[in-house]
Amino acid sequence: MIERMTRVTNNQKAQGRRTVTVLGSTGSIGLSTVDVLLRERDAYDIMALTAHSRVDALIEQALHVRPRRAVIGDERHYGRLREGLAGSGIEAAAGSDAVVEAACMDAEWVMAAIVGATALRPVMAAVQRGCTLALANKETLVCAGHLILEAARRHGTTIIPVDSEHSAIFQVFEQEHIDSIDKIILTASGGPFWNCRQAELVRVTPRQALAHPNWDMGAKISIDSATMMNKGLEFIEACQLFPVAQSQIEVVIHPQSIVHSGVCYKDGSFLAQMGVPDMRTPISYALGWPRRMDSPVKTLDLTDITTLTFHKTDDSKFPSLALARQCQQQGGSAPIILNAANEVAVEAFLQERIGFCDIFAVVEETLADSTSNKPTTLEDVFACDEKARQDARAWVTHKNTHMRASVVGG
Ligand SMILES: NC(=O)c1ccc[n+]([C@@H]2O[C@H](COP(=O)([O-])OP(=O)(O)OC[C@H]3O[C@@H](n4cnc5c(N)ncnc54)[C@H](OP(=O)(O)O)[C@@H]3O)[C@@H](O)[C@H]2O)c1
Repeated sequence: MIERMTRVTNNQKAQGRRTVTVLGSTGSIGLSTVDVLLRERDAYDIMALTAHSRVDALIEQALHVRPRRAVIGDERHYGRLREGLAGSGIEAAAGSDAVVEAACMDAEWVMAAIVGATALRPVMAAVQRGCTLALANKETLVCAGHLILEAARRHGTTIIPVDSEHSAIFQVFEQEHIDSIDKIILTASGGPFWNCRQAELVRVTPRQALAHPNWDMGAKISIDSATMMNKGLEFIEACQLFPVAQSQIEVVIHPQSIVHSGVCYKDGSFLAQMGVPDMRTPISYALGWPRRMDSPVKTLDLTDITTLTFHKTDDSKFPSLALARQCQQQGGSAPIILNAANEVAVEAFLQERIGFCDIFAVVEETLADSTSNKPTTLEDVFACDEKARQDARAWVTHKNTHMRASVVGG
């Protein structure tokens, strides 16, 4: 559990200018983070920005923001980065080790906004040097939550969740009244298809799945949201972050995305955090914590809200949540395999190599090989992740062959 109360004092000392590194600065969360930081330029210095392959976006951002260092993960873009930053005084670096080194630079705050399990090394590097970590990336907690949280305890790192649901829970979770907590309610928008019929899901295209009704997000999380795997990953993330039993976490579909999650207490109170769906609110909360910073997000006008609805989830249409519950229950390698298989399947769906519902099938089939051995080191996690990816790729090829055969066969 995030040691919130005990860390407040330490962080209150550091209320002068804060130095921040943004890992994944060119993505959806990264851009919103930079936007928030630039609005409080006097309060923050940006130490490093990192991206993977969108080198021109990184150059433009770096010239605007003036960090000490800009890092591109894909080394093939190093020449272009150096050329683009020539004469600016900003250091250029490239490669996955350079992304890890950026996380190791002496910033007090690190925003972890790289997508996928690939964020594991930089996230762990940041945790191991005792900074405050604003954690948007959820895949790292799913794959290696116990290792990350244990390292955070050992190194005095505070982790502030940025996922809007976990930020909401964090804001209303009364650790001092933990015995009075009945349950956590994790809300889910349900994505674009939550009330579609099963037969319609089979025909969903990447373009349709990318068009989320409420949130403007990166491609991977948009697909995860459409399959409800995002909620499955968030369920595991919540199990890692908050000290309640798995059975105390309930997922509820809330298509308007106004109530971002909350906690039910045994006295009948439901404390929730509400707001317009804009990630700059949880980002501001994480970067400002323990104070609250101003953010450009419009305050909620309750009189504008005509309807707030809540619905039960449907595991028969969207098996992702049930799979995630099973994996969390099973432990061992299961959550790593779930995540790896899902990353492979989502990429294949985006490349139109498999259909929408094949994502569920690839994950289920890959999971059949999970073991109860709990990884005890990051190397174990990487080995398990790599093996699961190979298996999932084989399943993708199998599905793709079937898909082509059915197209040819008409
Ligand atoms: N978007 C949201 O609203 C939202 C909400 C809650 C949680 N999250 C979580 O936040 C994380 C980021 O999501 P996002 O939507 O911002 O993703 P995104 O738009 O796809 O951005 C991902 C960022 O990570 C970088 N990146 C990609 N692959 C990388 C690699 N192999 N090594 C290093 N950097 C890499 C990208 O660089 P390039 O631009 O160069 O590719 C980009 O800066 C995800 O874990 C997601 O689940 C997102």
